[in-house]
Amino acid sequence: MGKVYVFDHPLIQHKLTYIRDKNTGTKEFRELVEEVATLMAFEITRDLPLEEVEIETPVSKAKAKVIAGKKLGVIPILRAGMGMVDGILKLIPAAKVGHIGLYRDPETLKPVEYYVKLPTDVEERDFIIVDPMLATGGSAIEAINALKKRGAKSIKFMCLIAAPEGVEAVKNAHPDVDIYIAALDEKLNDHGYIVPGLGDAGDRLFGTK
Ligand code: URA
Repeated sequence: MGKVYVFDHPLIQHKLTYIRDKNTGTKEFRELVEEVATLMAFEITRDLPLEEVEIETPVSKAKAKVIAGKKLGVIPILRAGMGMVDGILKLIPAAKVGHIGLYRDPETLKPVEYYVKLPTDVEERDFIIVDPMLATGGSAIEAINALKKRGAKSIKFMCLIAAPEGVEAVKNAHPDVDIYIAALDEKLNDHGYIVPGLGDAGDRLFGTK
């Protein structure tokens, strides 16, 4: 079964409070989402393999560690996932970025892919799918399906706020995918919003309604 990690670092919780606040405007909201994504990227990269290299400091020769050329891919689910990409790239600038766009079928109400563009060598890459909100889990499950269908072997899912229903759904559908969350909220309401949540992440990021 996939593991669920809640990154409840004080800095993340502090910033998340202002992200949640309805009085936080678009500019600040966007900056805060990016900052939390950076902090989460710091945690999510904890298991990156290292290799030893030889360098020379001004004082002596030394053996030191560098990241062992891991191929990473960051995949935002359009459109709200876009708000997290730059924050992650601050720490891992060499990561490639793919995109997955999903729409809701009006009859089945299920998410359907309309756009998928991934880096090459999908099979060798470690992917981090990002979307600020994990609500019912429908989009996350479909995005993971889209990556797996194209050969991806290593996938993590990262979001800011999750509902317990969404976490369970993703765990059941994709037990090999670990989930990284900044906060696990109470529930979903009848309109599919996370409670207390932050409202519509896409609208708040892009200033739309
Ligand atoms: N998507 C959002 O943007 N907000 C929610 O609360 C749930 C899904």
